[in-house]
Amino acid sequence: MRKKFFIETLGCAMNVRDSEHIIAELTQKENYELTDRLEDADLIIINTCSVREKPVHKLFSEVGVFNKRKKKGAKIGVCGCTASHLGEEIIKKAPYVNFVLGARNVSKITKAVKEDKFVDIDIDYDESTYAFSDFRSNPYKALINISIGCDKKCTFCIVPHTRGEEISIPAELILQEAKKAAKNGAKEIFLLGQNVNNYGKRFGDPNAKKMDFTDLLEMVSEIEEVERIRFTSPHPLHMDDRFLEVFAKNPKICKSMHMPLQSGSTKVLRDMKRGYTKEWFLDRALKLREMVPDVHISTDIIVGFPGESEEDFQDTLDVIRKVKFEQIFSFKYSPRPLTKAAEFENQIDPDTASRRLSEVQALHDEILDEIIPKEVGKVYEVYFEELKSGGRVGGRSDNNFLVLVEGSEELLGKFKKVKITRASRHSLFGEVLE
Ligand code: SAH
Ligand code: F3S
Repeated sequence: MRKKFFIETLGCAMNVRDSEHIIAELTQKENYELTDRLEDADLIIINTCSVREKPVHKLFSEVGVFNKRKKKGAKIGVCGCTASHLGEEIIKKAPYVNFVLGARNVSKITKAVKEDKFVDIDIDYDESTYAFSDFRSNPYKALINISIGCDKKCTFCIVPHTRGEEISIPAELILQEAKKAAKNGAKEIFLLGQNVNNYGKRFGDPNAKKMDFTDLLEMVSEIEEVERIRFTSPHPLHMDDRFLEVFAKNPKICKSMHMPLQSGSTKVLRDMKRGYTKEWFLDRALKLREMVPDVHISTDIIVGFPGESEEDFQDTLDVIRKVKFEQIFSFKYSPRPLTKAAEFENQIDPDTASRRLSEVQALHDEILDEIIPKEVGKVYEVYFEELKSGGRVGGRSDNNFLVLVEGSEELLGKFKKVKITRASRHSLFGEVLE
């Protein structure tokens, strides 16, 4: 009989892909099968995020709950960025945890499940050419890692300390994976890295073919079965003209760009060590709007970074007004251990940060109320990928709007022209034309 395991994934798309790798290794190299019922599991895994403080608190309360609900004798494993960050401390604080496996040590999962109190959080470990077994949670869209780690040292960010230095995966392996996924029905390829457009700066494999991210995008687009390419996250600093041109002209590259602004103030950006100014960001974003009129631009914003004055904050609002982002992920600054900014003296009081967060969100609602009604009447090519409640099917337009139509399974994995009949802040509703 196969043993059962349950896995919970928190955090970003890279964690989602790491969990797919864990599932693949355990089901194909070990005698495990996946269950979605925690009570039935012989092994419970939580794949954690440590970018902000909240998910860390959440970890300890969750493993406590897992421990109470688990079946007798079941093991608990903690993986991901909080595992990398806290290591052995997790077992000290929660002794019923059986293993701790860092975000850069996923390939050791088969070892971790066999040993007791296994801890491996080595951030120098190079998994860039490891051939993971194959598993995809979404048959229509394939997540593919193109690099591991991050070489930037943004002063607020813990990721370089949990995922280590940046190493690019050889293009040959990426192309092989993309071809295989596309042949198996994933018409959309989603390239993943902490800083994708820094691709090619360092390879672990000395024989890897030298190329940059723009070259890689072009090569993936040459795979016949691939119809759409998305990627996350690019860094605004590395958005040179050639990158923007290929993005604009290549028909397989989806017209949605994540441009993590963080702050609109050049002074705060300098303190964050982001490497660009307010003017550079505006120049890139507005040029992109000019080159690709229906481009969808999303962003990440941090409010209440140490030393952020009212004037600095107004600069952030100014950039939001000028770029009119279609989507904003906004966060209150959260001091993280091991980061430079956590030691800065001029921390902002939480009430001010909360007020600023509400202001960002209110301004964004105003912008959405202005831009979203203009979507009604447009016709989009939608790639359907998930069943929603109420007899609806959801898909994405090329420019990344979530589009819902009435329908069932037969739409999944298909491209259809859809006329938008109604629009809300977070999704569009439409009718299939053909
Ligand atoms: N390169 C990655 C960044 C991962 S962190 C990417 O672009 O996806 C994702 C987002 O979390 C960052 O863009 C930032 O806006 C936010 N973030 C990171 N550290 C933070 C902190 N200490 N406090 C608040 N938000 C943070
Ligand atoms: Fe973090 Fe900056 Fe890298 S946000 S993941 S250090 S680009």
